[in-house]
Amino acid sequence: MSETQNYIQENKQRFLDELCDLLKIASISADPAYSKDVLNCADAVAKHLKEAGADQVEVCETKGYPIVYGEKIIDPKLPTVLVYGHYDVQPPDPLELWESGPFEPVIKTTPLHPEGAVFARGSADDKGQFFMHVKAFEAMMKTNSLPCNVKFIIEGEEEVGSESLGDWISENKEKLKNDVILISDTHIYSNEQPTVTTGLRGLSYVEVEVEGPNRDLHSGLYGGAVPNPIHVLSRMIAQLIDEDGRITIDGFYDNVEEVSLEERAEMNKLKDDPEGFKKSIGLNGVEGEKGYTTLERTSIRPTLDANGIWGGYTGEGAKTVIPSKAFAKISMRLVPYQTPEEITEKFTKYFHKIAPENVKVKVTPHHGGMPYVLPSDSEEFLAAKKAMEKAFGKEVLPYRSGGSIPITALFEKVLGSKSVLMGFGLDSDAIHSPNEHYGLFNFYKGIESIPYFFEYYTDLKK
Ligand code: BES
Ligand code: MN
Ligand code: MN
Repeated sequence: MSETQNYIQENKQRFLDELCDLLKIASISADPAYSKDVLNCADAVAKHLKEAGADQVEVCETKGYPIVYGEKIIDPKLPTVLVYGHYDVQPPDPLELWESGPFEPVIKTTPLHPEGAVFARGSADDKGQFFMHVKAFEAMMKTNSLPCNVKFIIEGEEEVGSESLGDWISENKEKLKNDVILISDTHIYSNEQPTVTTGLRGLSYVEVEVEGPNRDLHSGLYGGAVPNPIHVLSRMIAQLIDEDGRITIDGFYDNVEEVSLEERAEMNKLKDDPEGFKKSIGLNGVEGEKGYTTLERTSIRPTLDANGIWGGYTGEGAKTVIPSKAFAKISMRLVPYQTPEEITEKFTKYFHKIAPENVKVKVTPHHGGMPYVLPSDSEEFLAAKKAMEKAFGKEVLPYRSGGSIPITALFEKVLGSKSVLMGFGLDSDAIHSPNEHYGLFNFYKGIESIPYFFEYYTDLKK
């Protein structure tokens, strides 16, 4: 075993203890009540980077939460890997569904994690994952084996749309110059079938409002004779997807990349486990776009989902009322070559078109993001594949993910470099949900794989 890998083995427990300390900080970017914790978390990350051996460590102010920067330049002629991650987390609610406190990390075993998993908000998304990079870097520094230059940007606003980061990278292009961006903020297909993520979907997110009568009405005096905004909104939402699971918005599929049958056959080599999939989420049947497998529906096809719907009386007991307004939040996951601007505009037009004349509708766009694809014959992908194959001792396949990390497309546009999505979570890790956890096996495999990536990538560039 190499000295670096030895160092990792010998310091395993400390790495985990340090991660647990980081997980105790409630760095919830969406809730202003936690702003102190978010700031404290940025300081803690900076301290870890410094202690690991990074230079120029800085907690960079932005309009929002700070971006933590650090670097180690050993030779300007060597390639530079830019590591990106986020130290902010999603709100933990509903709290009553957590088996232990979201910010009180505990180690427990699960059927998929017989070696144990750390349970806490942010354990898999993304503290446990970016921290693997800090520890792998420490191991390379302590054993004098860092083969190239490295820069870190760990941001604090990913879960709320990375608003400050876009401007910040444009203002710091020179400082952030790199050859490749390395990100661990995604998952592998399974511990038995490791994968490198080669695609992320884009996102278009809107809030809609349907207004009927100019005030709430008594449902006995008016019911049955006026448009009820809840009914109208429900009908409109139901109309957005047809019997075949196709989205009905005019022109929605115009720019969708048609993935070739060969490529689809290739991706469907990942052993689909329909029974396990259904069981893991308590369903007895799936649904989706006709003609596509579950794997395809959640990766290479665009989708539309209502994320929340409200209006009228939702308190205790009964209140007989027809509300004046009803609301919903709707997300659309996009694939190449759709853009959030195009899709938001098409949605808005269509939503107005299908609205009955006796109501008013309003569509308000939220943050969005572009899809991202890393070709599976690129040298960036090949270095990651080789690194993970070395750590797992298994063949690693490409895998397109359904989630979104909008900054990857922006990195390519502004900095001109490709992002390698070498994440180590499992889709069952319950990210954004109660009882989020991250497998210790995954945490350590990640730390092992990263130095191999640095080594293989540097070799490729020689
Ligand atoms: N790390 C996730 C994205 C992810 C998870 C991608 C697993 C692939 C596999 C990220 O933190 C996230 O939650 N992204 C949001 C979008 C963002 C704009 C809030 C998402 O995908 O919903
Ligand atoms: Mn994330
Ligand atoms: Mn997330």
